[in-house]
Amino acid sequence: RPLLDPVPPLPGLYTSVGLSIYAFLAALYMIPALGPTFIKANLKGRDLLKTYSDPIPESQGLVCASIYIILLIIFIPFPFARTVASLSHAEANGDSSRGSEPLHHQLAVYLSSLLSLMMATMLGFLDDVFDIRWRHKLPIPLIASIPLLMVYFAESGNTHVVVPLPLRGLFGVLLNLGPLYYLYMSLLSTFTTNSINILAGINGSEVSQALIIAISVIINDLLYLPWPVDFRIPLHLLGNKAEVDIGGEWHAGMAYGSQELVSRHVFSLYFMLPLVGVCLGFMYHNWYPARAFPGDTFCYVAGMAFSVVGIQAHFSKTLLLFFLPQIFNFVLSCPQLFGLVPNPRHRVPRFDADTNKLYPSKTMFLRPPSRLTTLVLRILSVLRLTELTINSTTGVIHECTNLTILNFFLVNLGPLHEKRLVQVLMCTQVAGSVLAFVVRYGLAGLVYDG
Ligand code: UD1
Ligand code: MG
Repeated sequence: RPLLDPVPPLPGLYTSVGLSIYAFLAALYMIPALGPTFIKANLKGRDLLKTYSDPIPESQGLVCASIYIILLIIFIPFPFARTVASLSHAEANGDSSRGSEPLHHQLAVYLSSLLSLMMATMLGFLDDVFDIRWRHKLPIPLIASIPLLMVYFAESGNTHVVVPLPLRGLFGVLLNLGPLYYLYMSLLSTFTTNSINILAGINGSEVSQALIIAISVIINDLLYLPWPVDFRIPLHLLGNKAEVDIGGEWHAGMAYGSQELVSRHVFSLYFMLPLVGVCLGFMYHNWYPARAFPGDTFCYVAGMAFSVVGIQAHFSKTLLLFFLPQIFNFVLSCPQLFGLVPNPRHRVPRFDADTNKLYPSKTMFLRPPSRLTTLVLRILSVLRLTELTINSTTGVIHECTNLTILNFFLVNLGPLHEKRLVQVLMCTQVAGSVLAFVVRYGLAGLVYDG
């Protein structure tokens, strides 16, 4: 298979790996070292699922975010140094055909990504401190994604979708979604930031989700690197085209192995490798029994990092496939999020000190549920997604288990130890990623031509 460009350089990738190891060590050391400082600043929480009530430092995601962002800033000169060098080399040889435009563009992409990550940190931290109501905090990721979208617009402004084969009769091969496409991308950041935050509450849950998603993204990126041995066979299923992504660049010049495609996935690695580093370091302290809590700061920053790479490296659809458990949890949560079913402050499973296990937690109806709510809950209960407590004389539902994936596991697997439940969650996340790869590189070939 001919490659359009000679094997592209991978500037800064080794540096990025080195900084990621540093990120791991820094998180490992700084999280416990700063714990007392957080408690003194009243950033602390009680572990709801334990017998003891010692204060645990909360929102230590701020430490993770700081390490992550600082390292990303220190990293800036590395990938760009070589481009600058080759530019000045070309200039010295009187070759002015290659302006500094690509460099400016890459910098814009990088800096706008940092800006979005910083806004996510700020939002997350404010949420930790002030407990912002969720309808107030919902629009903030939308705004935080504007810099990303502007850079996207300035680069190509490609808002075309490749239409799946069965629908081509209706829409043609390429469909221009225009402004809708930007709406989709800004909603993506709202989803990735919030969906991790609402799949939370047991030790290790937030950080393990982020870790597994980041590793999945890294594996996907590695598929696109110019390896000396060609083991990219699954990609043949997509023929010679780049990501058949909504808005993925889709034009003839974008062959697999092209410099542009490789550099997009290298960009994604720059942001994912250090994230894995901080997650691993933090996980050590957040693992059962947790000595540190991530807080909303962690969830927002990790979520935003995923949006950043999904949008900037043009693989948002593949990215969403890595969020299958989060999508499931979000859809299941909708009746509670949108007010059909009462939504208590905490929906975490219930802890029973005698058995030392977790049981599904319940939410109580103070007034009899409406017809619609009753219908929805009955359907969910038939699907074993919730368990209802029904008044035997009146037949009215007066309790149901909270609509989360964690309670869903407990309803179907029986009571579990907290550590076991987080392991179940992690296995589900891994299984979701495996399925994602099958869908992306196996089944996509069926609905898109190669
Ligand atoms: C989200 C969930 C909420 C869940 C909470 C747990 C929705 C709509 N919101 O709210 O149902 O109860 O996360 O994080 O689904 N905690 C533990 N063990 C842990 C992690 C957290 O007990 O391993 C507790 C601690 O008391 C901690 C608190 O959860 O202080 C943090 O909750 P917070 O992140 O503020 O909750 P939300 O994100 O608002
Ligand atoms: Mg939270």
